[in-house]
Amino acid sequence: MTQLLAVNGSYRENGAIDQAVDMAVQTASASGATIEVIYLRDFPIEFCRNCRHCTQVPGEAPGECVHQDGMREVIDKIEAADGYILASPTNFYSVTALFKRFMERLVVYAYWPWGAHAPKFRRKKATKKAILIASSAAPGFMGRMIYATMKQLKVTAKTIGAKPIDSVFVGLMSQQEHPKLPDKVQERVRAMVRKLV
Ligand SMILES: Cc1cc2nc3c(=O)[nH]c(=O)nc-3n(C[C@H](O)[C@H](O)[C@H](O)COP(=O)(O)O)c2cc1C
Repeated sequence: MTQLLAVNGSYRENGAIDQAVDMAVQTASASGATIEVIYLRDFPIEFCRNCRHCTQVPGEAPGECVHQDGMREVIDKIEAADGYILASPTNFYSVTALFKRFMERLVVYAYWPWGAHAPKFRRKKATKKAILIASSAAPGFMGRMIYATMKQLKVTAKTIGAKPIDSVFVGLMSQQEHPKLPDKVQERVRAMVRKLV
């Protein structure tokens, strides 16, 4: 049975990203996959200290972080999953700080010993698949062009060894206090999740 993991970088309950992730959960379950959601807002994750302890030992396996926090459980879940749903709103042209903090802690997936100019990805080949979901106040097509959000979600997928197979950028999500995910976007999310399963 396919095991999926969704990582949700939204700060608020039942906003655009939560609704998209809920839709993904319903679709995955209806398609016979198991799915777990990590709400980053509920997870105790420290900031990366840039000590690079985790990047010194070569190999495919994620390095060992000095922090003893929720990220250990997150890494275990990433390793156990077959596919991913990576989702974040756009805040100040980028993924949320919540999602960025998670991304920086993925440095365990880099081999970067002292003396090397640049890190190497431990996962050289993408053996898993991911779908990407971003949201913004601006229209989606503009968000995709001008914001870093989608690129950052792609980098996240690459880092953990996954190939993005589809993405949606849902815009105009800030006109109401409680936005409703448009039906068309709900259908897009369903179709993407079916592809992932
Ligand atoms: C602090 C902050 C910064 C934001 N920056 C942007 C931005 O740069 N561009 C944009 O189009 N929308 C921006 N927005 C709007 C959010 O992207 C939008 O409300 C969000 O995608 C909805 O996601 P959610 O419903 O899951 O919270 C910002 C919102 C906040 C609160």
